[in-house]
Amino acid sequence: MSVVLGVGGGIAAYKAASLLRLFTESGHDVRVVPTEAALEFVGAPTWAALSGHPVSTDVFDDVEQVPHVRIGQDAELVVVAPATANVLAKAAAGLADDLLTNTLLTARCPVVMAPAMHTEMWLHPATQANVATLRSRGVVVIEPASGRLTGADTGPGRLPDPEQIFAAAQAVLAGHPQDLADRHVVVSAGGTREFLDPVRYLGNRSSGRQGIALAEAAVARGATVTLVAANVSLPVPAGVRVVPVTTTEQLRSEMLAAVPDADAVVMAAAPADFRPASLADAKIKKSHDGSTPTIELVENPDILVELVASRTTKSPVIVGFAAETGDANGTVLDHARAKLERKGCDLLVVNDVSAGKVFERDVSEATILGADGSSTPVALGPKLQLAHAIWDAVVQRVE
Ligand code: CTP
Repeated sequence: MSVVLGVGGGIAAYKAASLLRLFTESGHDVRVVPTEAALEFVGAPTWAALSGHPVSTDVFDDVEQVPHVRIGQDAELVVVAPATANVLAKAAAGLADDLLTNTLLTARCPVVMAPAMHTEMWLHPATQANVATLRSRGVVVIEPASGRLTGADTGPGRLPDPEQIFAAAQAVLAGHPQDLADRHVVVSAGGTREFLDPVRYLGNRSSGRQGIALAEAAVARGATVTLVAANVSLPVPAGVRVVPVTTTEQLRSEMLAAVPDADAVVMAAAPADFRPASLADAKIKKSHDGSTPTIELVENPDILVELVASRTTKSPVIVGFAAETGDANGTVLDHARAKLERKGCDLLVVNDVSAGKVFERDVSEATILGADGSSTPVALGPKLQLAHAIWDAVVQRVE
């Protein structure tokens, strides 16, 4: 495949060299188009040697080949990493004052941009407006990672790891519809922990895999994704804003804070239903007389119910999960239908967990129940496949 790698003038340009290797090693033909400023950070010989193509920043080099038009027209994918505030602004405004901006105007293929800049520049309304404009035109703008920036400061603005940008580009190439572009979705994942004392907690077996798959699928479909992650140790895909939490109460407050700004909220996390009535300041010791402690529990709030109650309009679409087993009182789907009504959400994704199915596995099968009475079975397959089926159902319902 013919890929154009645009490189903006930021210190993160050095990471684009690794990204280039990932593309070439998987058989893509990559043409690197740096900006003039990018060459201050990584020189043209590096790009030429790694890509096997000559490198130029200027529309007046090799003019007989009309590069300012041809490179964009020939591209099957354009990735800009790092996309500086300046490159984003020029692309949003449609300027064409160097080879990269000309290429962006002539390209008709998917375009992925991975911004990297200081937090202040990223959060500036001008940059945010430019990102919104680009997304509204179908450009996939990956959320920057949070962490240590070039100086001593930290915050959102870091270029995600090359592997993560590569994965996001592959998702775009897989041809997912960009039907969540311009949408903000909030997904919870993992299992909460409720502390008994400074070293012990009550927890559950949820790994966060399904929530991560939902985040990955939403990014691939162009969404801005917030993942509220309860004790998740698995890697999270590029472009996802991660909000780490530990307890059900922390999960609750982060989810409630996210609702007003969200188009869809998915509660894939397993919050602990109960917590110890009191938290011991010091480690609980053995009594040495054979007696055992009794732990008194109190019920945690039901976050899903509170999310439904807190929304003021039909938006956001709210999705719950239910892990059910059939019993003498009804089938898995009977229990799930009753739970959907009890919780008041728009969709409920039902997993049959008889015989230890689902947990810590990469595959799952489920039924997606709608408050409108719909029922969509999703066959056994990767959790990513179920994630896309869930977003299909959400897309039909977002206003
Ligand atoms: N959930 C929640 N807050 C809780 C417990 C659960 O928001 N304190 C959410 C889960 O994230 C999930 C859905 O509610 O999306 C269903 O979880 P489940 O544990 O099956 O619901 P319960 O109401 O606890 O049902 P049960 O009586 O079967 O335990």
